[in-house]
Amino acid sequence: MDHFRTIIEPFKIKTVEPITVTSEEERETHLKEAFYNPFKLRSEHVLIDFLTDSGTSAMSSRQWAGMIDGDEAYAGSKSWLKMEEEVKDLTGYEHILPTHQGRAGERILYGYLGGKGKVFISNTHFDTTRANIEFSGAEAIDIPIEESLYPLLYHPFKGDMDLVKLEQLISERGSENIGAVILTVTNNSGGGQPVSMNNARRVGEICKEHNVLYILDCCRIAENAYFIQHREAGYENVPYRKIAQEMFSFADGCVMSAKKDALVNMGGFLALRNQELSDACTNLLIITEGFVTYGGLSGRDMEAIAIGLREVFDPDYLKYRIRSTEYLGEKLFKMGVPLIWPIGGHAVYLDAKSFYPHIPVEQYPGQALVCELYLKGGIRSVEIGSVMFGKYDENRKLIPAPNELVRLAIPRRVYTQSHIEYVIEVFEKLLAKKESVRGYRITEEPRFLRHFTAKFEMV
Ligand code: F0G
Repeated sequence: MDHFRTIIEPFKIKTVEPITVTSEEERETHLKEAFYNPFKLRSEHVLIDFLTDSGTSAMSSRQWAGMIDGDEAYAGSKSWLKMEEEVKDLTGYEHILPTHQGRAGERILYGYLGGKGKVFISNTHFDTTRANIEFSGAEAIDIPIEESLYPLLYHPFKGDMDLVKLEQLISERGSENIGAVILTVTNNSGGGQPVSMNNARRVGEICKEHNVLYILDCCRIAENAYFIQHREAGYENVPYRKIAQEMFSFADGCVMSAKKDALVNMGGFLALRNQELSDACTNLLIITEGFVTYGGLSGRDMEAIAIGLREVFDPDYLKYRIRSTEYLGEKLFKMGVPLIWPIGGHAVYLDAKSFYPHIPVEQYPGQALVCELYLKGGIRSVEIGSVMFGKYDENRKLIPAPNELVRLAIPRRVYTQSHIEYVIEVFEKLLAKKESVRGYRITEEPRFLRHFTAKFEMV
């Protein structure tokens, strides 16, 4: 396989789901009816859905076969035992708690560890992680490395945590006040950028030295392992699963959204070394998620997770996965589309402010790009800029987000090379008509998480 230029999908297709090809006129109507907010579009009106890579994977024939075999017993289900064994073997942690998705594990763990006066430190907290921490009354602080702040600067591990700041923060705040240190691999909010083994190890050493709990947010750890094998000295010949196991070995536990690298549509887990902490979390699990042998999951979900966690480390799969995301990003970059460099594992992050320099941030250039992608190509993406993170000052003037990004998140095993070629072609059209695109204003918005439901009109 190594000697070919073409990356082929390492699977053949057994079941197909038709997607609807719409005309630009039809899409204009759909977008207008959605008030220029793609979250309000019906998915049947979307041709290529790059809204998220979460829960959107295609399962394999083995996973589907496993679903039929799912054991739906309330207690002691054999599907649970299979999932538990798989997670134990992968992570090396003793206590495994199934949850219906990642944020349920976050609510249980950080709700328990958090509270007023507590501080959590991360390379970057994902939105739901931050929300669960802040909801508990605690504070969430992001300390990505300096290099991650420059979109075009190359760094092989732009997802790394700033170790100097970590030591400073622990001594300033006092180790007894640190709820946990959370390493997000790969760093989703920072552009899907990988974390190096060296960084993960050093974070572990610092946490141990100060007696601070160290948790991995590991939902894309297989993708992260690919980058380590290909970019970090000493790992060239280490299998991906072994790389992940080594990374788990430094931490005290992990929270996983199985909707990413376990290749399933729903699921998650919390895994911990410490008995006492696990007992406390188990109580909360039973109250809100379900009994210890299913959490919020059905037997068939647990069966599919156990199988997906094996499949994701297949070298042919990971190569196809990472290379096809890179292929899209590299092609766009060469065409002159501004984006975060290098390309991350699960998504391409476009810099809308540079793409539409004539649209002021108050008119949301990211939203303009998201709308154009849908209008011209039926592609759904998500704005990660001032619509999502913007705030208002006392005069209701917009305090913009630091960046105006648009994320193209690629579902796993869903789209083929020709879908990707099509997306590239859509960008050719967008580039040709850049100057004529106009910005948007918000006409209606809720107080919190406005990006999901806000309504817009074109300026
Ligand atoms: N941590 C990270 C790094 C994530 O990317 C996500 C979800 C979660 C935790 C929460 O997991 O959705 O199963 O509750 N990310 C999705 C995304 C929503 O589109 O990036 P969940």
